Amino acid sequence: MSSYGNDCAEIVRAARPGSYRIGMILGSGLGELAGEMENAVRIPYSKLPGFPVSTVSSHGSELVAGELEGVPVVILSGRAHYYESGNPSIMRTPVETLKTLGCEILLATNAAGSLREEVQPGSPMLITDHINWSGLNPLIGEEDEKRFLDMTAAYDKDLQAAMHRAAKADGHALAEGVYMWFSGPSFETPAEIRMARILGADAVGMSTVPEVILARFLGMRVAAMSIITNLGAGMQAHGLSHDETKSVAKLGLARMKKLVRGFVKEVSHG
Ligand code: HPA
Repeated sequence: MSSYGNDCAEIVRAARPGSYRIGMILGSGLGELAGEMENAVRIPYSKLPGFPVSTVSSHGSELVAGELEGVPVVILSGRAHYYESGNPSIMRTPVETLKTLGCEILLATNAAGSLREEVQPGSPMLITDHINWSGLNPLIGEEDEKRFLDMTAAYDKDLQAAMHRAAKADGHALAEGVYMWFSGPSFETPAEIRMARILGADAVGMSTVPEVILARFLGMRVAAMSIITNLGAGMQAHGLSHDETKSVAKLGLARMKKLVRGFVKEVSHG
């Protein structure tokens, strides 16, 4: 480990001793889930060396360690994006901290634009694979041979099955698909969206992929889910805006919370 992951894990353990099973990175508007943790401590990112402070409204900036459904969980409420700093490994210390705290599973969530008309704003989409369209990689500069990371099964099949069971228990079918990472911060053009569809993407967004690569590099099992907040540029009558991302993410929150709780139960007892 090259960053402050060990130092940060010690700070968390000093505030709340114990080992943790699942780490979560919650994106736009989803940080509210952290408020539902039991026996939790909250630590602002500003107290954790190497943690970024997000500049995006709707992103909180705190680590919350506690229990969800009786399972020890660490939630990173708020992430930093590549477009905020130009650094694709900006989330390295946070992901290392989760791993050092014992989390063997990472659940990452984000807001995304859907490329499929039948997957409408407000619905969740389970990510089964990704396309890294940015050309960036958080492992650039890494010298260890481990940098040649196998991405064949980056999104864990058993965790995907657990998420589908959680959705079924909640009475819903769960859409799934391929997430394509654009650097942002400008949204895509309609031409880029047509390209993304041709290339096999089901959703587009500006996050998550670097964290997934980092988590796999550290040997964690990964699940990821989008809240669809809009259709891709050119697919809906109106243009795109961050306000829409924030307000629609809120509409999807209730279902997302149930899914995450169900997922935690499934992976711990199932
Ligand atoms: N594109 C990129 N990122 C996004 C979108 C989108 O359409 N919606 C929410 N985040």
